[in-house]
Amino acid sequence: MTRIADVRLRRILDSRGNGTVEVDVLTESGGFGRAAAPSGASTGEHEAIELAPEEAIAAARERAVPRLVDEVYAGDQRSVDAALHAADGTDDFSEIGANSAVAISMAAAKAGADMLGAPLYQHLGGAFRGENFPIPLGNVVGGGEHAADATDIQEFLSAPVGAPNVTDAVFANAAVHGEIHDVLAERAIPAGKGDEGAWAPSIDDEEAFEIVAEATETVSQEVGFEIGFGLDVAAAEMFEDGEYVYRDRTRSTEEQIEYIADLVREYDLVYVEDPLDENDFEAFADLTEKVGERTLICGDDLFVTNTERLSQGIEQGSANSILIKPNQIGTLTDAFDAIELATRNGLDPVVSHRSGETEDATIAHLAVATDAPFIKTGAAGGERTAKLNELIRIAEDAL
Ligand code: PGA
Ligand code: ZN
Repeated sequence: MTRIADVRLRRILDSRGNGTVEVDVLTESGGFGRAAAPSGASTGEHEAIELAPEEAIAAARERAVPRLVDEVYAGDQRSVDAALHAADGTDDFSEIGANSAVAISMAAAKAGADMLGAPLYQHLGGAFRGENFPIPLGNVVGGGEHAADATDIQEFLSAPVGAPNVTDAVFANAAVHGEIHDVLAERAIPAGKGDEGAWAPSIDDEEAFEIVAEATETVSQEVGFEIGFGLDVAAAEMFEDGEYVYRDRTRSTEEQIEYIADLVREYDLVYVEDPLDENDFEAFADLTEKVGERTLICGDDLFVTNTERLSQGIEQGSANSILIKPNQIGTLTDAFDAIELATRNGLDPVVSHRSGETEDATIAHLAVATDAPFIKTGAAGGERTAKLNELIRIAEDAL
């Protein structure tokens, strides 16, 4: 194995036009890896800390780079990530920034793969990784923190659960996205797009359910396999003074649990993310008890890809699925550990993008490497298609 020879950090643009951290890692033997940090808008309060890009870059140059260059073997991901933790010294990456940490971690993994002459999913997953493909969950209508004056529920997600292969699944989500545009046009509802490329019409949640149910049904008929749909409620964003605040009413925790359970039954939802507040492990458990047999109840802001919070959720039966966002926790090692803990305890990991993204496609490789049953990475827009198209390429190679 050869050592890391250089780590270069720079500020680049993300999909919202904000700055983010990009990193190049070079190895002694000429290996090269490049990766960039994504960024959330509806961030969980327990996430690792993202610093302003300039600040994160300066801090990482000062504290992390000296611990990596000439010190750590590039393909030894756990050592790379341990060096990042040691350089930072806090438990939330507030010194060097989770944005610098995750970009370095992912770039080092890519350099490690390059050195071996292996694709990233192979380097991360090893020779005995599974051969299933992750089903892409595609955000097709949304609002919340991702678009003003649109639905209260943050994301309506197309879920092509019956797709025979990754390419058909990716195109099914694109077709649902297109079909929704047609349905909106028929109803004379104007719509721009939110941060993740989903349609962001000024309609209430009830109408969005109608439209998404209609569009998934239409496309399902056309393609000949089952397409369900799911939600990211991002309920922490609507939780104020003990109540869930919707545009026309509020719901108590009990009412929210009943409301979500009814939606699961009425629309046969295959997936529900963050249906309750990010600190309410107990309400999550009540809902999972009610409908966990028929749908995935997924913790995003609840777990923040953190094994300690996940352990608490496992103990309390809070969910049967966890969202995995490497930048929520800061390194690939931490994300892997969360996936392993989840899988060992029967929870389905869902590897995910953020609302602010770049062309970086690491998460496509991470999902395949870990045999994750789902990947959430949008349906439309260049920074989303970067991951979807990478999945198609990986499938041609390996699945
Ligand atoms: P975020 O939203 O990237 O803005 O946090 C995505 C999500 O909540 O899943
Ligand atoms: Zn979420």
